[in-house]
Amino acid sequence: MLIAIPELLSADEVARVRGIIDAVEWVDGNVTSGAQSALAKRNEQLPEGTPAHAEAGGIILDALGRSGLFVAAALPLKVFPPLFNRYAGGQAFGTHVDNAVRIQRGSDFRIRSDLSMTVFLEDDAAYDGGELVIEGNFGEQSVKLPAGHAVLYPSSSLHHVTPVTRGRRVASFFWIQSMVRDDGARRILFEMDQGVQGAAEALGQDHATVIALTGVYHNLLRRWADA
Ligand code: NI
Repeated sequence: MLIAIPELLSADEVARVRGIIDAVEWVDGNVTSGAQSALAKRNEQLPEGTPAHAEAGGIILDALGRSGLFVAAALPLKVFPPLFNRYAGGQAFGTHVDNAVRIQRGSDFRIRSDLSMTVFLEDDAAYDGGELVIEGNFGEQSVKLPAGHAVLYPSSSLHHVTPVTRGRRVASFFWIQSMVRDDGARRILFEMDQGVQGAAEALGQDHATVIALTGVYHNLLRRWADA
């Protein structure tokens, strides 16, 4: 399941993040790669463990906590501290699957990557190329969103970033370990959550049917979640 999260960051938050990350030195993107993806990746990355990385990542983590759509879709247990990358001058990232387990540099924090997230941090009209292309059951989906918008997709999917042929693509990327490991179960819970919200709007929050369906949602979550 691929879910776009519009306006995860406000224009002001995008500007704050860019102000922080544009002011420091970047390094070769292969610092976080596994051996296979190192062959495919050509980009730059913000060094981890720096004050700029922590401050800019904190703005994104705060925004995730406020986003009801993110919480409903991801059912997050752990979120990897957001990383940042940028592509210019024909740089690209060839087809790969993200590593199953991510360990934070210099710490013992580790997560299983169930979901991958990209937060776009550059005006989409300011660069050519740089589409995130995700292969799914219904073929390829190409994603390129305005600054501040985000996309959530299964870490198990093959994906790539097309060459950036004009301007510069700047983004944050990271992984989420969900309370619900199975993508299909997580999708049912998300669709049910959206349905219950629609029913609550149509019938009222205290309608007996809405209360009953809310109970079913929580009982499915109790059955499937590891908290
Ligand atoms: Ni990837």
